Parts: sequence; C-alpha cells; structure tokens
Amino acid sequence: MPKVLIIYYSRTGNTERMANIIADAIKENGVEVACKKVENTDLKELLDVDGVVIGSPTYYGSMAAEIKKFIDDSVKYHGKLDGKVGGAFSSAAITGHETTVMSILEALLIHGMIIQGDSGGQHYGATTVGKPDKNEEKWCQRFGRRLAELVKLIFS
Ligand SMILES: Cc1cc2nc3c(=O)[nH]c(=O)nc-3n(C[C@H](O)[C@H](O)[C@H](O)COP(=O)(O)O)c2cc1C
Repeated sequence: MPKVLIIYYSRTGNTERMANIIADAIKENGVEVACKKVENTDLKELLDVDGVVIGSPTYYGSMAAEIKKFIDDSVKYHGKLDGKVGGAFSSAAITGHETTVMSILEALLIHGMIIQGDSGGQHYGATTVGKPDKNEEKWCQRFGRRLAELVKLIFS
C-alpha cells in the first residue's frame, strides 16, 4: 500500500486539526498515512514514503520557522525525493495562508515533487481561517482524498 507522511507544526491546535482531518481522508481513500509534529519527525522518514504533505500556521505570510528549518535540513536528501507526491496546507487568523502554502510548495517543487492543483476547490492546498469550520473541514477532506487518489495512481 502506498504511504504518505504528513508533517506539521501547530502552536494553538488549528493546523493540527487540519492535519488530522487530512490524515483521516487519506486513510479512508486506501493510502497508509503517518501524521507527525515536525518536532517528532526524523528527516530519514522522508525517504520511506510516496507522498509528503507539510502543514504550517501562517506566520507573517509564510511558514513557521520550525517548518522552514525542517525543509532546509532536508537538503541532506536533495535528489532523493524526486518524483514523490507533495502537498501543503495552512491556517491563518485572517489571511496570508495562500502565500504560506505556495512557499512550502516551492520547496517541494525544488525537491522534484509532483503537485496537483485543484480547479474546483482551494487551488493550491487546504487553507483555513483559524480552527476549521464545517465548510473548511470539507476542503481538508477533499484535499486529502485527491492527494490519496494521485498517490494511488502513481504508486499502486
Ligand atoms: C508569529 C505569528 C505570526 C502570525 N502571522 C499571521 C499572518 O501573517 N496572517 C494571519 O492571518 N495570521 C497570522 N498569525 C495567526 C496564525 O496564523 C493563526 O492563529 C493560526 O491559526 C495558528 O495556527 P495553529 O493553531 O496551528 O498554531 C500569526 C501568528 C503568530 C504567532
């Protein structure tokens, strides 16, 4: 069974809630998933999965320093993550979540990952304003389902 690793940072629980919803949706769609706080994630785990999804709160329109450090440290495996599926999500208090998602996706693209946009939903990745409401929970589920479908298409 293909496998996805979700890595996230969350100080007040909003991004963590998104991570859990996305993880459930991935699992329900037949893909194994590990959902881990960035501080508990070993870089080596990147090597063992088919998809990597990174979530961060929006801090000044970009990712939290903890996520940025993890990504910068991942240079250790530069070239080894090529061809994996990537994705990103972010929670903000007001706005700036899309630039945060894009900053994470830029890094994943530089690693050579495959990123799917969404023509009929949140285009770049899942985003919420604060704690996900019912509607935003649906966007997170859709994001997880589509990511699982792409991973299965490539890696089953
Ligand atoms: C240092 C810092 C910077 C922030 N910058 C932004 C920002 O640029 N735009 C915004 O809408 N919210 C901003 N916020 C609010 C958080 O993005 C928001 O509360 C988010 O939901 C927190 O996610 P968490 O519960 O996973 O920690 C900032 C919060 C902190 C602590």
